[in-house]
Amino acid sequence: MKKSKYITKVTDINKLYIEQVIENGDIVVDATMGNGYDTKYLAEKVGENGFVYSFDIQEEAIKSTKKKLEKENLSDRVKLILDGHENMDKYIEKEISCVVFNLGYLPRAKHRIITKPNTTIKAIEHSLKLLKPNGIVSIAIYTGHEGGPEEKNSIYDFVKELNQDEFSVMECGFINQVNCPPQLLLIEKKKED
Ligand SMILES: C[S@@+](CC[C@H](N)C(=O)[O-])C[C@H]1O[C@@H](n2cnc3c(N)ncnc32)[C@H](O)[C@@H]1O
Repeated sequence: MKKSKYITKVTDINKLYIEQVIENGDIVVDATMGNGYDTKYLAEKVGENGFVYSFDIQEEAIKSTKKKLEKENLSDRVKLILDGHENMDKYIEKEISCVVFNLGYLPRAKHRIITKPNTTIKAIEHSLKLLKPNGIVSIAIYTGHEGGPEEKNSIYDFVKELNQDEFSVMECGFINQVNCPPQLLLIEKKKED
């Protein structure tokens, strides 16, 4: 099979952006912890003076992520929270530079617990409030599962209405791929000149 070298997964494209945004010592959020790959990545990026808040509603996600972080000695700079991202405002008081959403369901989990439109939108709203100027919210959206297209539509309806003087919103996705390729949305909070 032939392979691309540069235009690979949208989650890789995402990293090209957030790597420019996250600085050593920053506070960032993984809104959908899952198996902890993004949490681990963010913990490495913020360095030992930074901090990551990571949310999931499944015990399974917490267990698997905890193990991953312990192995890499990263546990001290991460708070694993067993609660929905829609409640992030209850846990975070300081400004954050980046929020990562990787929506859908936890791969290989017994139960198909999926992210849902109302709670996802609420979490995006909180994220945009907590975000510092020039901070970024990234959202990887999947539509191949039941409920996925509805979630995507709700998110698009919401972000399309964001004031362009306040936020830049960009979409990124493959337009020649079969089987519901994921979509990436990037939202940057604009800074006063
Ligand atoms: C695609 S997975 C995330 C993958 C993860 N970022 C990783 O690196 O492995 C989506 C996750 O969102 C979680 N989720 C669903 N509803 C949620 C909510 N309201 N708040 C936080 N997480 C939620 C699911 O339990 C699932 O683990």
